[in-house]
Amino acid sequence: MTTVVPANAHGITMAALALREGKLVAFPTETVYGLGADATNGEAVAAIFAAKGRPSFNPLIVHVKDRATAEALVEFTPQARKLADAFWPGALTLVLPRKENSPLSLLVSAGLDTVAIRVPSHPIAQMLVAQAGPIAAPSANLSGRISPTTATHVSEELGGKVEIILDGGPTTVGVESTVVVFEDGKPGLLRPGGVSREEIECVAGPLTAATSATVQSPGQLESHYAPHAKLRLNAREAKDGEALLAFGPSSAPDNLSRTGDLREAASNLFAMLRALDKKSNAIAVMPIPNEGLGEAINDRLKRAAAPRP
Ligand code: TXA
Ligand code: MG
Repeated sequence: MTTVVPANAHGITMAALALREGKLVAFPTETVYGLGADATNGEAVAAIFAAKGRPSFNPLIVHVKDRATAEALVEFTPQARKLADAFWPGALTLVLPRKENSPLSLLVSAGLDTVAIRVPSHPIAQMLVAQAGPIAAPSANLSGRISPTTATHVSEELGGKVEIILDGGPTTVGVESTVVVFEDGKPGLLRPGGVSREEIECVAGPLTAATSATVQSPGQLESHYAPHAKLRLNAREAKDGEALLAFGPSSAPDNLSRTGDLREAASNLFAMLRALDKKSNAIAVMPIPNEGLGEAINDRLKRAAAPRP
């Protein structure tokens, strides 16, 4: 049985206890809702894959309360520290080598010798990791589907499969964290996300295009973040039978941002895709500029529109 709990002090304590008992807890982060398990408990981490219906074990992001905690789990380089200092807490995930004798379950790395790690800035996620310890959490949706930005999205897909859903209202950033890997010591962009490429490059210099040759991770799969409806991108207007997802000055009812604000568009993206998916079998999406958070928005739209396996 799943309980939806308001994310007040009592709810957070209940959720932390459930995590320590090896149960699954969905919780809000500033990006999207996560499906969390105690990152040091292999069975609990395995239950994440079962609940999501992930076809294979793909590596997960570990959420910790601060950089000091992260330093005990993974090996930092000076460059990684610089990025962590600039963007943590926040929507940046760093992929770094596991420390020898790391208490993290091997399953979070899915056979790799690295761990993806971040410090979330959402106050509820912060309190939860402070009380429960490191939490492994992918987005709290069924494998291949749209990430959840409200507790209702989570209960629609994972109700019955998790112990507790902490309801902390809609998330603010709206797209997942940016994933940065280091190849030959150089930072590369594995997944665009809530911190823009431009912001990261200001701190770290030019990012290489990470090949992700070593990792078959869900965010890299061509079809992902997919609604049931067919998506047509870069549309000027809706054709017969299509619902329009607008951007910029347009009187269409579903508009990511009338003022063309990419942050507002990112925070609306997944909820609007879900709502249109319920209304129509086909969605036409207006063009989004590929700068700032637009890079993450276009990445998700491209995968949502890709042919399904
Ligand atoms: O904003 C977010 O990142 C959300 C919230 C809940 O924190 N989490 C999330 O997790 O989006 P998930 O599992 O849906 O995506 C995990 C991504 C993968 O697509 C992959 O790019 C990367 O993290 N990843 C995880 N471990 C990795 C590793 N060891 N090496 C390379 N990439 C890894
Ligand atoms: Mg995901």
